[in-house]
Amino acid sequence: MKNIEKLVRPNIWALKPYSSARDEFVVDDEGNEQPLVFLDANENPLGSVGSNGANNRYPDPYQRKLKEALSALKNVAPENIFLGNGSDEAIDLLFRIFCTPGQDRVLVTPPTYGMYQVSADINHVAVDQVRLNEDFTLPVAQLLDTVGQHAYKLLILCNPNNPTGNAIASTAEFEQILQAFEGVVVVDEAYIDFADFASMTALIDRYPNLVVLQTFSKAWGLANLRLGMAFASAPIIDLLNKVKPPYNLNGVTQELGLQAVQNVAQKDAFVASIRAQRAWLYTQLPLFDFIEKIFPSQTNFILFRTQQPNELYNYLVQHQVIVRNRSTQPLCEGCLRVSVGAEAENKRFIELLKSWELL
Ligand SMILES: Cc1ncc(COP(=O)(O)O)c(C=O)c1O
Repeated sequence: MKNIEKLVRPNIWALKPYSSARDEFVVDDEGNEQPLVFLDANENPLGSVGSNGANNRYPDPYQRKLKEALSALKNVAPENIFLGNGSDEAIDLLFRIFCTPGQDRVLVTPPTYGMYQVSADINHVAVDQVRLNEDFTLPVAQLLDTVGQHAYKLLILCNPNNPTGNAIASTAEFEQILQAFEGVVVVDEAYIDFADFASMTALIDRYPNLVVLQTFSKAWGLANLRLGMAFASAPIIDLLNKVKPPYNLNGVTQELGLQAVQNVAQKDAFVASIRAQRAWLYTQLPLFDFIEKIFPSQTNFILFRTQQPNELYNYLVQHQVIVRNRSTQPLCEGCLRVSVGAEAENKRFIELLKSWELL
């Protein structure tokens, strides 16, 4: 059992959180003879100039209904779920909870998602790096050696990884790391719905230092809503709740998130379709001589290496198709990352590659 208290910034451990109106009186208007009269939160009693569900009342600060629905879907107890304004909010909060600015260090494994470094920089936290292997898998022995050299607060791993698309390690290797690492292991599973391996949420009961991040921005098609999930032991979830802004998720997001969770079939259909389109792209990309390598993907994007990434990127932009140029990332020399689009978008992309080849 890791001692979470020892990892937390002392000021955060001691923090007395803000107590909102909806903390002090939790709404439960079932069985009341008269409707509740809310004169506690300085809201507008007359109504709202908003529409589409934006109303005059503050939302549930702990998103209980949404968490209950998610709990059933993810097989994780509500007290092990945190919901944030995108998973980016959870990443930032983890830095603020565990890392004393100018003092603590975290460990990341490039090439990986850029927000870990940005969040670290914002919070004035030093970042050490252990690079992935050439095939983008985790160098487990080297990582274990490195984590033993310093009392790192966070180790942030992305699986499947962005921008490479692959599974970086097996579950057994993740468990080895969880056992060896004294700090908090954050596993970012933003793309897990597209993968053919299971989420690590099943492990949170066994590892109090594990945080699993997921998001509604990808498979669920709700990037615009900004809704992210963190799954972890109750002490870590309590800390996230303590530090978050009181009403971090607005009521509209909570309601639309709930509707989404009640429509898993639609998400599953999206995933099936995107996986089929991904398979089609894997039949097309090898046909081009100028593409030197196509990396395997467990996600909704594909990374590929080409001789002239900047020229190809610009050519695609000129023809209104925007991909991500990742060629300056470590180990990603020459690489572009293309999201799997809808069928017509993928066809257009492949047609443009054909015309580029003929230039
Ligand atoms: C690995 C990874 N984590 C997190 C996010 C951000 O997710 P959210 O939209 O929930 O903030 C992204 C977005 O691209 C991502 O690629």
